[in-house]
Amino acid sequence: MNATSSVAAAVTPDPTEAVTLLVNQHRRLEALLSLVVEEAAPPERTRRLLKAADELAVHIAAEEMLFYPAVRAERTEDILLESLEEHLSLKRLLADLLALDPVDCTFTPKCKVLLEQTEHHHEEEEDHLFPKVMLLLGPEKRAELGRQMLQQQTDLMRAGEPREWAAEQTEAAQALDEEPTPRTEHP
Ligand SMILES: [Fe+2]
Ligand SMILES: [Fe+2]
Repeated sequence: MNATSSVAAAVTPDPTEAVTLLVNQHRRLEALLSLVVEEAAPPERTRRLLKAADELAVHIAAEEMLFYPAVRAERTEDILLESLEEHLSLKRLLADLLALDPVDCTFTPKCKVLLEQTEHHHEEEEDHLFPKVMLLLGPEKRAELGRQMLQQQTDLMRAGEPREWAAEQTEAAQALDEEPTPRTEHP
C-alpha cells in the first residue's frame, strides 16, 4: 500500500498536529535525501548531506523522546520496538556517511541505501503505527504533542549540529522503557 494514501485520512489541515507533522517531515526528508543522491559535485554533496542529516536527526529525536513514549501501548509495542531498531540502522548509516569523504566511491551507494531504508521506515510508521495512534490519541492530545515536538526540534536545531546526536547513538537501539540519551555537548 502506498504510505501516503494509507495515512491520508490521518492528515489534518493543522500542520503542527503530531501525525500530520511527522508525515509532512517524512516527505521532506525523502526529498532532501534524494537531492544528496542526485548531486555529483562533492562540496555541494556534503552541504546537502549535512542539511538532510540534521533534519533526519531532529525527526528521529522527537519520535524517540516524545512521540513514541506518548503512543506506547500494548497494541503499539511491537511496532515501536521495530521502529527503534530501524532508527538504529538509520543512525549507523548516517554516522558512516558523515565520516566519509564525499568523493569516496561508496558515498553515493550508501546514500541510496539510507534513502531506501528511510522510505521503508516511513512506510512502516505510516501504514502500521500512525493508524493505531489515531485510535489511541484524540485530536487535542495530538495537537499538543505536535507542538511539543516542534518546540523540541527547534531547540535541537538551535543547539547546533543535531546530526552529531544521531551519529553518537550507534551502539544499540533506544530502549522503550528508558529515558532517551541526552545529547552530549559539542564545542
Ligand atoms: Fe521513525
Ligand atoms: Fe518518522
